[in-house]
Amino acid sequence: MEKLHKPDLKLARKRSKEHIETKEYQKTEIINLGLGKKYLIQTHGCQANEADTEVLAGLLEDQAFTKTDIIEETDVLIINTCAIRENAENKVFGELGRLKSYKKVNPNMIIAVAGCMPQEEAVVERILNKYKHVDIVFGTHNVSQFIEYLHYVMVEKKRLIEVFSKEGDIIENLPQARDHRFKAWVNIMYGCDEFCTYCIVPYTRGKERSRQKDYIIKEVKNLVKRGYKEITLLGQNVNSYGLDFDNIDYSFANLLEDLAKLDVPRIKFTTSHPKDFSDDIIDIISKYDNIMPFIHLPVQSGSNSVLKKMNRKYTKEEYLTLVEKIYDKIPNVSLTTDIIVAFPSETEDDFKETLDLVEKARFEGAYTFIYSPRKGTPAASYENNISEEEAKSRLYQLNKLVNEGYLRGNKRFEHQTVKVLVEGPSKTRPDVLSGYTENNKLVNFKGPESLVGKIIEVYIEEAKTWSLDGIIKNS
Ligand code: SAH
Ligand code: SF4
Ligand code: F3S
Repeated sequence: MEKLHKPDLKLARKRSKEHIETKEYQKTEIINLGLGKKYLIQTHGCQANEADTEVLAGLLEDQAFTKTDIIEETDVLIINTCAIRENAENKVFGELGRLKSYKKVNPNMIIAVAGCMPQEEAVVERILNKYKHVDIVFGTHNVSQFIEYLHYVMVEKKRLIEVFSKEGDIIENLPQARDHRFKAWVNIMYGCDEFCTYCIVPYTRGKERSRQKDYIIKEVKNLVKRGYKEITLLGQNVNSYGLDFDNIDYSFANLLEDLAKLDVPRIKFTTSHPKDFSDDIIDIISKYDNIMPFIHLPVQSGSNSVLKKMNRKYTKEEYLTLVEKIYDKIPNVSLTTDIIVAFPSETEDDFKETLDLVEKARFEGAYTFIYSPRKGTPAASYENNISEEEAKSRLYQLNKLVNEGYLRGNKRFEHQTVKVLVEGPSKTRPDVLSGYTENNKLVNFKGPESLVGKIIEVYIEEAKTWSLDGIIKNS
């Protein structure tokens, strides 16, 4: 084995004051590495990974690789992994195990593991020892170098493990092969400095770094010119956009307003940390019709003592005050959230506080999780006496309440006309089209495929828990 550079979570925890440079992507001297060859990327985890996958696909297509969906026929397979919970990691190890047999049939297939899991030393050790059919392991900080890595492995026929624990500069103008024709992700920042005590992301994604506004505005203008209808601004905590700039006073609210003034039909953003969701941001959302009235605002818990142990930096009362302010200024808004149950030593009373908050905040959806200890994070060493059975029972009770919120959120659109961005045939009913409203509600209706990619008016006849059924207006 020749190239070996392993990660170190302790190093990843460090935050330096070092200035982050913005550099333009320099094309490699390698050309047509993929002529006649195919690639496949499996993406796990959040939108940060989806965005990285589009860059990896762009890099590969620049080298004349073509995309395939069939594992048996691919020459390069990348698994872009997520480290957020243990079951996310187990899924990847399961997949890696299965790939051994594919490699027996197609020994030239190059298997690469990318994303957040390689940022953990334990994962890299396990791959090195037990998954010898994996050829390349690289992390989140060196995506732009993938072609060099691939070239090395193809020519030298050796394994390459290259994971950096410290973030690098921001690289602009990377090629991207976007997965969607009218919805696009746009990173506005990378990394996270919040260090919620349960969370691995600040270790796998490095320190918070905001992209310069000119590059973001240029990217969005270009997408609009190409006919994109919906832009999702990405960051682990978009509200702290710009706080890392030296001597530049430009906030997320400023960016949101500058983008809303462009001719973008729809803008949304994810994710917001409640602690710095400013009044300015609320005002800008309420002022511009093209900013979707849809806010994902993870709360994690309704108990003040748990929130404190999680290092979330707000109380239940502060969260609810913020929510009321949002409802007051953006009356048609849909709020969704993330919640963790069974955080170490969460009591029955703590959990009841969460249920109470869910009722009071009137969420119209939530991602709910059982706490999963992540090695290297502070909470992993907290004493935890909650049984798996109890954790499951709490999740079940919470989901029951959350599902009532989904239905309530959908019901308010019954017998109303909504604007729908048409995505394509419904996944479950191929004779039906589906799309999303400005409040991010799924709508099913009958209509011609020529409507795909357009924003149309649909009259809602019936609301169900997970979707709305409607008919096209004036048809
Ligand atoms: N940056 C985003 C979300 C990142 S991860 C934010 O702060 O909102 C997405 C969600 O996964 C988190 O909101 C949290 O609810 C959940 N999560 C993170 N770490 C977890 C862990 N160790 N166990 C269970 N859920 C976790
Ligand atoms: Fe994780 Fe907290 Fe950062 Fe979100 S804000 S990515 S939960 S550390
Ligand atoms: Fe997972 Fe990494 Fe996103 S851990 S949630 S893919 S930042």
